[in-house]
Amino acid sequence: MATPDPRVSPLDRHVRRLRTAARISIDMVVGAVHSGSKSALRNKLRASPLLFAERTYNTAHPDYDPQLARNFPNHIHNIDRTSANPLFLEIKKLAKGDRVPPRAWRQVRAEAMDEARTVPGFDQVMERKTFIESYIAELERRYRAKYEPGWVNLVDAQFLYWAVRQTKPKTIVQAGVSNGLSSAFMMLALAKNGPEGRLYAIDIPYIFNPADPWWTVAGQVYGVLIPEGKSSGWMVPDIYRDRIEIEAGDAKLLLPGLIDRLDRIDLFFHDSDHTYQQMMFEFEQALRKLAPNGLIIADDVSWNASLRDFADKHDVPGYNHQGTLGMVFLSRSDVKGF
Ligand SMILES: C[S@@+](CC[C@H](N)C(=O)[O-])C[C@H]1O[C@@H](n2cnc3c(N)ncnc32)[C@H](O)[C@@H]1O
Repeated sequence: MATPDPRVSPLDRHVRRLRTAARISIDMVVGAVHSGSKSALRNKLRASPLLFAERTYNTAHPDYDPQLARNFPNHIHNIDRTSANPLFLEIKKLAKGDRVPPRAWRQVRAEAMDEARTVPGFDQVMERKTFIESYIAELERRYRAKYEPGWVNLVDAQFLYWAVRQTKPKTIVQAGVSNGLSSAFMMLALAKNGPEGRLYAIDIPYIFNPADPWWTVAGQVYGVLIPEGKSSGWMVPDIYRDRIEIEAGDAKLLLPGLIDRLDRIDLFFHDSDHTYQQMMFEFEQALRKLAPNGLIIADDVSWNASLRDFADKHDVPGYNHQGTLGMVFLSRSDVKGF
C-alpha cells in the first residue's frame, strides 16, 4: 500500500477518495434534487443505474418506483400514533385525513418567509445566495461544465424555518451543510426564537479549486460546490457565528463523538450521504440524545425508505413533505430499552 502524502490532510484524502470513486457520486447526485435548472444532471441520472447503493434508489431512473423507497409525498404516516410535538400538531391541523394538500403550504410558507425577512441577517443570506449563483454562472461560462451548489430548495428552507419556529429547539444537530442555505434559515429561526438556541454541524466541504483539474472538466456535472475561499456553512449570517459550530469531516466518524458531547438534541437534520445505511446510522445516533418531543428531519427521503422504516421500528408518526423533506416525531422515551 502506498504511504499517504503527509502534506495532504486526512480530510482532503477522504474528499479525494470520494471524488475519484465515481464521477457521478452520491454527493454529485444530491444537486439534482435540490436545484431549479437541472436538466444536465437529470439526463446523466436517467442514464445511471437504478440503485446508487444498497436500498438507495435513483429517483430519475425510468424504473424508479416510489413504493420501493416508501416515498409518499404529503402523507402523514402512522397517523394513529400520538405525539405532542408542536410541529406534528400543526401538520395535523393542515391535513385532510392523512394527507396535507400541497396548497395548504402556500400560506404557511409565505408567512414564514415574511417573518424571516424581518430577522437580522436575512439580507446577508440572500446576498450570499446571489453571490453563489453568479459565481457558478461564471464557472459554467469559463469551463463549459455544469455546477450545482447542492443546497435545499427555497421551499424546503422556508419549511425548516417554520419547523424551528414551531418547535423552539435549543440544540440542533445537522449532518451535511455545504454552503449552508438550510443552516442559515434554521439559524434565522433560532435567532427569532431567542438568544439561546445553537446549531452543531458536520460537513465534508467540496470547495472549488481552479488549480485542481478535477474541478474543470468540460461537460462534467458537479453536484455540490462551495466557492473558493469559503467554507461549509458560510451562508449563515456573521452575527450568528457564535451560535454555530461546524466540524469538517465524515459524519460516520464525527457524529458519535459530537452526540456524546451534547446533553440533548431537540432537532436532528440529515442532509449528508443519502444511502439507506448512512441515514439509519445517523437517525439511531441522534436518538441516543433526542429530547422529549424531539424531531428528526431528513432531506431527500425519496431516495430510500430509511425514515419510514425508522418510524415503524419505533412505532411513531412521521410526515413526508413533498417528497423531499421527511420527518419523524419521537423522543428517547418512545423507545423501549432507553
Ligand atoms: C446536499 S449538500 C447539503 C446542503 C445543505 N443542507 C443546504 O441546504 O445548503 C450535502 C453535503 O453533505 C456532505 N456530505 C456527504 N457525505 C457526508 C458525510 N458522510 N459526512 C459529512 N458530510 C457529508 C457533502 O459534502 C455536502 O457538503
